Amino acid sequence: MILIVDFGSQYNQLIARRVRELRVYCRIEPPDITVESIRELQPDGIILSGGPASIYDKHSPRVDPQIFGLNIPILGICYGMQYMMDALGGTVKGAGKREYGHAEVLVRRPESLFKGVESTTPCWMSHGDSTTKLPKGFRITGSTKNTRIAAVEHPKKRLYGFQFHPEVLHTPKGKIMLRNFLFDVCDCPRNWTMSSFARESIRSIREETGDSKIILGLSGGVDSSVTALLIHQAVGKRLTCIFVDNGLLRKDEAKKLKTVFQQHLKINIRFVRAGKRFLSALSKVSNPEKKRKIIGKVFMDVFEAEAKKIKGAEFLGQGTLYPDVIESRSAFGGPSAVIKSHHNVGGLPKKMRLKLVEPLKYLFKDEVRKLGKTLGLPDELIWRQPFPGPGLAIRIIGEITRKRLEILREVDAVLLEEIRANGYYRKLWQSFAVLLPLKSVGIMGDQRTYEHIVAIRAVTSRDAMTADWAKLPHRLLGAISNRIINEVRGVNRVVYDISSKPPSTIEWE
Ligand code: XMP
Repeated sequence: MILIVDFGSQYNQLIARRVRELRVYCRIEPPDITVESIRELQPDGIILSGGPASIYDKHSPRVDPQIFGLNIPILGICYGMQYMMDALGGTVKGAGKREYGHAEVLVRRPESLFKGVESTTPCWMSHGDSTTKLPKGFRITGSTKNTRIAAVEHPKKRLYGFQFHPEVLHTPKGKIMLRNFLFDVCDCPRNWTMSSFARESIRSIREETGDSKIILGLSGGVDSSVTALLIHQAVGKRLTCIFVDNGLLRKDEAKKLKTVFQQHLKINIRFVRAGKRFLSALSKVSNPEKKRKIIGKVFMDVFEAEAKKIKGAEFLGQGTLYPDVIESRSAFGGPSAVIKSHHNVGGLPKKMRLKLVEPLKYLFKDEVRKLGKTLGLPDELIWRQPFPGPGLAIRIIGEITRKRLEILREVDAVLLEEIRANGYYRKLWQSFAVLLPLKSVGIMGDQRTYEHIVAIRAVTSRDAMTADWAKLPHRLLGAISNRIINEVRGVNRVVYDISSKPPSTIEWE
């Protein structure tokens, strides 16, 4: 495995992804990791990440410099390289001006990490300080116009440094450089596959939970579904899933989930129908944040009451993913940590005193999908578009009534049918309908109508942090609009949302 020491760069998770794409397992650890823990982990190599600090900042992050004496190959990236240069006796100075953006590396030594890379190659720079004097035994392997010491190595000690970021796509040959480090220098085995991960986690879940019972809140999303499947393969009937039907789901969603989990996968599952309870708690509430709070609270109450019925449960399974783990513990969490916090409605009461089992906590989303495939989860669940915890409640602008829910559910079902039939479901990050608190005049047959307006929202995105409105073909938009107005009573107008995020958000509330 490769150990990545986290100096706080926004690109950290990208380093981990690149390494795993090359089928090598890696872990990201904070800089206060001890040399003893590193020895225990037995990494084949270490990557010191970049970071926003300058080594001259009073509180700049540092890792124990003894790691340079462990005889483990180390690659320092950006701040990581500067830290290495400084710790080993080189000189790092403020460059006067920050260098940010594209640059060309002139490769001075077309071997070791630059093997297979052209003699000049684009790279992505983002730094304020630069190395001005090398520590003993190091040599320059690459330079840019503004940065003479842009890449360095000490081949005998197997220490390497890049001032630029090989992990980003703006450094097109970065992956080759990382590959050279992983396989030529560190001699890593290529054994990170989802079936090896599944085997290993099934073994460790069994070991961790012994004979105890495990509870899991199933939402139907890919994370909780894959977690359920994995834990089920480890402990079978000792796992009980709880699915809370809050009455705010898409059409037939609960039914479909029941068929897959109960009939096909034979997983113990308790369905709690709590629609009435949610609806009455939400009565006359229009404020979006209030809606979220109420839904979160009722969910906790319902879940807890159901969980109590399962005697002897000691563990709670959760589908926490690696990005959440890194963001929640990183001192330099970055803006994403703040933006996403309000979405974790699913967090369960601490007072339940259950120990957590989080088998996906070292995986990225795309790996979770691959794992789902390996474990036999149907494609329909693996590729489900994200659906928010508060469900249709935040897609009904204004008050939520049974009638308005029914209208939105039908509209949404027609929309998804068209999106699927035209091959757009997987191309879109999300596609859904929003019911507006407005009526407008229309004409149907010879009759004047005065009915609801719905908006269609379809976006493309990589991670929901930013999103583009989808350029769906007019023909498809026309078909969607026609079908909705003809098939759903109470709607006489359909509009398409053409705003991107930022400055808009994906959801309307
Ligand atoms: P926004 O609307 O903030 O949404 O651009 C970004 C992503 O988060 C989802 N979302 C939520 N998910 N509870 C959730 O579980 C929520 O309260 C919530 N609000 C937004 C949204 O669907 C999109 O994928």
